[in-house]
Amino acid sequence: MDLLSLAKNVTRRTGKPVTDLLTATRILGTPRMPLLLALSKGFVEPVYRAAFLSSAAGSGILRRLAERPCDPGSLAEALQIGERDTPRLRTWLEMGVTLGDLGRSDGRYRLRSRAAKALAQTRYDTVAAALEEVLRFHVPVLLDGPRMLREGRRLSLADQDGTVIARSSRVVRPLVERAVARTLDTSRAVRLLEVGCGSGVHVRYAARLNPRLSALAVDLQPDVADQAARNVAEWGLTDRVEVRQGDLRTLDVQPQFDLVTLHNNIYYFPHDERVSALRRARALLAPGGMLLLTTSCRSGNSGLEALNLWFEYADFGGPLPHPDELARQLETAGFRDVRADRLLPGAPFHAFTGTRAGVPA
Ligand SMILES: C[S@@+](CC[C@H](N)C(=O)[O-])C[C@H]1O[C@@H](n2cnc3c(N)ncnc32)[C@H](O)[C@@H]1O
Repeated sequence: MDLLSLAKNVTRRTGKPVTDLLTATRILGTPRMPLLLALSKGFVEPVYRAAFLSSAAGSGILRRLAERPCDPGSLAEALQIGERDTPRLRTWLEMGVTLGDLGRSDGRYRLRSRAAKALAQTRYDTVAAALEEVLRFHVPVLLDGPRMLREGRRLSLADQDGTVIARSSRVVRPLVERAVARTLDTSRAVRLLEVGCGSGVHVRYAARLNPRLSALAVDLQPDVADQAARNVAEWGLTDRVEVRQGDLRTLDVQPQFDLVTLHNNIYYFPHDERVSALRRARALLAPGGMLLLTTSCRSGNSGLEALNLWFEYADFGGPLPHPDELARQLETAGFRDVRADRLLPGAPFHAFTGTRAGVPA
């Protein structure tokens, strides 16, 4: 038994009066015990719960349990887990019971905590993905930062799961939509290029706002582009939206776009390569065309600082931008009428716009 669990058990119950009491006093009397107890309740259990809930949501277990209570056998079958490993799945489910997120009666498991019930709902998928992003990507870089530096290791795109990120990025969707609604010309046909489209939700929003809009949506990561293409087909937009795997830096298309958008991805470019990436975006605009770039900026908020840390440790990206600095980079890249707008008072999320000089055709 590890020391944390021992400490907790001892505080819950002492069995045989005298000897147990003496042992308990000895254990609880050690100077490290208050710290251990505080760590257990304040840090360890929340981490266990977050990891358990994230995995239960991501694997689809929460959704299945929301439909009806299940035994480990039927869950194993649904998750394509071999019969040999069903007892191990049971042990994992029991951990959920211990943490208070699952309940069990007659050998069947059900959802118990409010968090488990909420994360089981499709409408909270973005929250489940954000939790997964924190655990899978932010926690490891916090845990391994100094060791990575000592070993000269960097994170690569393969250390990310693009489809999880595409889902979690929807957290800022209302802010991106606000920026799109402010910028998009709805009075005429518009040709949009969306760079790093993720799930494609922002292209869908633009297409809904302007029924004469047509778009090319590209994403660097093949699996992300494939998912976006499936989404676009499901939304019935294939006649207006083309999705391709592609990299802004090498994209071979005519400079024909009225609007180029980059949402939540400027930090995928190293700091000193941003001007050339922005120049490239500008070169794809038709004369008079506009760039709209939305991004979280440095703020001191712990979630964003963890995101910033991840990209600082990546071999392909760079830190979250400071608004003034990014505005200057847009100007250096040749954009005119550059603006940086905070989209919500107090929120470190900004929209940057700039135009390519010239008269629209
Ligand atoms: C954090 S996700 C945001 C997805 C989407 N824009 C959103 O806001 O929901 C950033 C995306 O940008 C893509 N990306 C990064 N660099 C890119 C590049 N050079 N060209 C095209 N896509 C890129 C990544 O593959 C990733 O899917």
